[in-house]
Amino acid sequence: MIVRKSPEDLEKMRRSGLLVWQVLRELESMIEEGITTLDMEKAAERMFRDAGARPAFKGYYVPAAGAAYPFVLCTSVNEEVVHGMPSARRVLKKGDIISIDTGAELEGFYGDSAITVPVGEVDARTQELLRTTREALEQAIEKMRPGNRLFDVCGAIENHVTSRGFSVVREYVGHGIGSRLHEEPQVPNYVDRRNENPRLKEGMVLAIEPMVNAGAPGTRVLSDGWTAVTRDGSRSAHFEHCVAVTSNGPWVLTRP
Ligand code: MF3
Ligand code: CO
Repeated sequence: MIVRKSPEDLEKMRRSGLLVWQVLRELESMIEEGITTLDMEKAAERMFRDAGARPAFKGYYVPAAGAAYPFVLCTSVNEEVVHGMPSARRVLKKGDIISIDTGAELEGFYGDSAITVPVGEVDARTQELLRTTREALEQAIEKMRPGNRLFDVCGAIENHVTSRGFSVVREYVGHGIGSRLHEEPQVPNYVDRRNENPRLKEGMVLAIEPMVNAGAPGTRVLSDGWTAVTRDGSRSAHFEHCVAVTSNGPWVLTRP
């Protein structure tokens, strides 16, 4: 069942969404050569607590991993796709890209968002990977209108990414979001005809999160049980926003 949110619920989701946006902006401004992903983790945890919010990922049980995720942030560098774990040993260097994914719960409602940021200058193909992933998310957001269908959202991502010679990850998907971090429906970054294709209605909120590989689509999980990496070692980008369907069109809750 897809839970539709009332206007009051959406206002609460807006508040958690804007907090997540603000924290991501602060983290982005910290990124430079020499910083560690654990530095970012500590800053994020402090910002969420100061705002009276509960970090949504820390302690969140993930069935596929068979464990609770231990950090506030997922920090995935270069060929890491998602669920990279902050570490004092992970020192960022020029030419890296880092995806920062985080979520928060405020007044019973969740926000969830991710960005991928270059560390200093990155090569042209990496810039194109980031741009294409961001554009794919924007095109998917544009489909979040009453009367459209879920496959319009998924297909917008798939079409844009493949048209640029990149590939979408299939093992991880976006999701409905609200008073739980993960709600129905699943939102794959491609049209999965095994799934239903519900019509989008006012009050539905989706966390849309294209994960795009520079090379082949395959991924595997490292022996730490969490970090997903590309099988071929190619780089991967990830952007995510929570988006509500309204009568006035798409409302991106996780940016001003
Ligand atoms: N943004 C991801 C998601 O929505 C990350 C959450 S996984 C967790 O699924 F383990 F970190 F919680
Ligand atoms: Co998400």
